[in-house]
Amino acid sequence: MRKESPLHYNREHQYWEVFRYEDVNRVLSDHHTFSSQNRRRQKEEPVFHDSILSLDPPQHTLLRSIVSRSFSPAFLREWEPRIRTIAKDLLLQTPPDFDLINHFAYPLPVTVIADMMGVPSKDQPMFRQWVDRLFTMENDPTNIRFADETKPDERKRIRSVQMDMKQYFRDIVHERKQRPQNDLISLLVDSHSHGQISEEEILSFCFLLLLAGHITTTNLIGNAVFSLAEDPETYRLVQKDHGHIPLFIEEVLRYHSPVRFVTRTAAHDVRLGGETLHAGETVVAWIASANRDEQVFDRPDRFIANRKPNPHLAFGKGIHFCLGAPLARMEAQIAMQALLSHWNRKEQIQIQEARPVKTVFLNGYEKLTIA
Ligand code: HEM
Repeated sequence: MRKESPLHYNREHQYWEVFRYEDVNRVLSDHHTFSSQNRRRQKEEPVFHDSILSLDPPQHTLLRSIVSRSFSPAFLREWEPRIRTIAKDLLLQTPPDFDLINHFAYPLPVTVIADMMGVPSKDQPMFRQWVDRLFTMENDPTNIRFADETKPDERKRIRSVQMDMKQYFRDIVHERKQRPQNDLISLLVDSHSHGQISEEEILSFCFLLLLAGHITTTNLIGNAVFSLAEDPETYRLVQKDHGHIPLFIEEVLRYHSPVRFVTRTAAHDVRLGGETLHAGETVVAWIASANRDEQVFDRPDRFIANRKPNPHLAFGKGIHFCLGAPLARMEAQIAMQALLSHWNRKEQIQIQEARPVKTVFLNGYEKLTIA
């Protein structure tokens, strides 16, 4: 598609698809032209109001600034020992043959984000059920469907999960109003008490943080282990010297991008990749394709564990650049250090069963059994 149809109009679903690095980069970087607000018509009032992900400045800037310090590398250093302990404890409990996702790649980031937010991590089984029900789209894997295209029964199911989540967060928010703690929800409640944000905005933020804070990182860890199984040479390299882990993780982000695409709306008519996009049209920017663009990456279809430079777009770009990127990188690096130490006698990684996740949006596995 990058060569033959770098800008493709999907007539059936009425959106533009953008494939080349240069164009994806422009869509992500130019928020004046490519708005994050979803302007497609919705059949019903959404359960959650727009989160920062789908807001433009100035609301976006304000909301992001409230929590951004909590995700800075300096602040996150305080979390490092706790994340190492969680990783170690999880591996102590695993049987020799285990499902990496269920026993490790899922519980690690969900425990961390739950702790940071101040929601009980014992509620994890419920979070997993929510995620499974939200992302088990009976999707045609070649198509992206938007909220306005979901079938009535699917819409009902998604709304019911979102309503459960909203009530769950509402109870915690009310509790924090009485007894503030040192956590993200208390920080949001404090901004609310100073009149900066509404309670609806807190609830949408919680919804976004809980989901964005773990489903993507689960996939990153799963994809990293999958890469080690696919490429024994890389496994030997990182096993011998854990110093290679940071660059290896960047290559996993490029080669197996956990988030495949993001969407935008053209704010006004614009020329892109030789085509004219009209105001109000939806744009799907394929991160996964941009990250394999031969114009930018040397031998893009080869996994090169120590690739440098590696200007991948896996965390997006511009004002919506992933808030949790430093956290995701730290979690993935700690996870790999713990796993490689756990496997220090293993000659190679063998996978018995790899079951991919059931949504086009995310790239990863819901089951990955290690022999
Ligand atoms: C935004 C990917 C982990 C929170 C984004 C965006 C991408 C992304 C591509 C940009 C969306 C857009 O431009 O529309 C990833 C990947 C992750 C990851 C690949 C893991 C490997 C996390 C974690 C958190 C997080 C751990 C923790 C809370 C967010 C938030 C935004 C965001 C809040 C919205 C930022 C904004 O709109 O200003 N992420 N993410 N993400 N991510 Fe992540």
